[in-house]
Amino acid sequence: METRLLQKDDPIPYHLLLLADEEIQAIERYIHQSAIYVIEDAGQIIGVYVLYPIDKHTAEIKAIAVNEHFQNLGIGKFMLRDAESKARDNSFCKLVIGTPAIAQKQLSIYQKAGFELYDIKKDFFITHYTKPIFEDGVRLTDMAMLKKMLI
Ligand code: COA
Repeated sequence: METRLLQKDDPIPYHLLLLADEEIQAIERYIHQSAIYVIEDAGQIIGVYVLYPIDKHTAEIKAIAVNEHFQNLGIGKFMLRDAESKARDNSFCKLVIGTPAIAQKQLSIYQKAGFELYDIKKDFFITHYTKPIFEDGVRLTDMAMLKKMLI
């Protein structure tokens, strides 16, 4: 398995990014300033993650998503490790990622990969989105922020 850095002329896989983010407007706020890495299978993009430079030292994984048919096969964990190594290669010393505070699967994947909780952005999903977002019938409100030092 390997990732490929998307080039300027390559189409952006919005359909996959929309699994990780509810609204195109939210994606547009970071995607054009980010490095987009993809995993392909038989010419089709099945995984994507997006690295956004917050400052000289810190990069954020703004989105990470795996096509529904390929989930729970280890691709997400592979992309997290890949994101760490790409961030390190680009001289970042800290990697952060945010996820809904109620997202059990995501929180457990990130924590098992060595990320630790450092902040809760209260009411993030109320303030930054135009419509209420529900996951498993629960309205998203807060964003949990996790970080991992890369040195
Ligand atoms: N609660 C806790 N852990 C769960 C779980 C649940 N409901 N469902 C699965 N898991 C665990 C699995 O046991 C596995 O961990 P293990 O290998 O230690 O047993 C792990 O989650 C799955 O790892 P992996 O197969 O690498 O994940 P993936 O390829 O499915 O990718 C996502 C993970 C989150 C990227 C993928 O599910 C996805 O695209 N989801 C939709 C988009 C999204 O929510 N993105 C994140 C936005 S913050």
